[in-house]
Amino acid sequence: MTQDELKQKVAQAALDYVKGLSIIGIGTGSTVYHFINGLADFKADIEGAVSSSEASSAQLKKVGIPVLDLNAVGTLDVYVDGADEINPNKQLIKGGGGALTREKIIAGASKKFVCIADGSKRVDILGAFPLPVEVIPMARSYVARELVKLGGQPVWRENCVTDNGCHILDVHNLSIMEPLTLEKTINNIAGVVTVGIFAMRPADVVLVSQGEEVITF
Ligand code: A5P
Repeated sequence: MTQDELKQKVAQAALDYVKGLSIIGIGTGSTVYHFINGLADFKADIEGAVSSSEASSAQLKKVGIPVLDLNAVGTLDVYVDGADEINPNKQLIKGGGGALTREKIIAGASKKFVCIADGSKRVDILGAFPLPVEVIPMARSYVARELVKLGGQPVWRENCVTDNGCHILDVHNLSIMEPLTLEKTINNIAGVVTVGIFAMRPADVVLVSQGEEVITF
């Protein structure tokens, strides 16, 4: 199976987690793209979705699912999203697609976070994937210097402005032995909007496609 077929397979499996729900949270990325297309098959039951990016909102509208404001719907039952890395504790690195801030907000506002990915995303230790950090533009250089002090090598993702009008630094060469601590430390640097470590609010369920199987943990 190609990587895209694996993404499609796991996205299909995740549909079971939202059947019967009228409002759900939706993440961002190529795996979620397949999930949204799968949702179209039973969109009649869905009142709407809270979306983590302009890209997902456009796709939701395309398949006929209304996009709702998080402020208007309160706590969500389920949030479905992908990840760039997943460790055995269901802690994640996210933000490869630049949508980490809205993703973290919706994950926090949801009772259950269902993470979907192809098997290549499983790791023992987070950090081989460069860690995305969204920053206020004027703070970019300052935050980069602080990240160097933490042992990383930040690289400005040039030509990328997030949906929130901010910039992204991708931090290379981190071996994240203590995800909770590093998440809090980076969050506390002035000018950081969001760090792409999801450890304080990890996934509740992870679905991973490996070959013909979808593994759940
Ligand atoms: C978006 O900002 C990311 O957090 C995505 O969830 C992540 O990059 C996974 O993307 P794919 O499903 O495209 O691999």
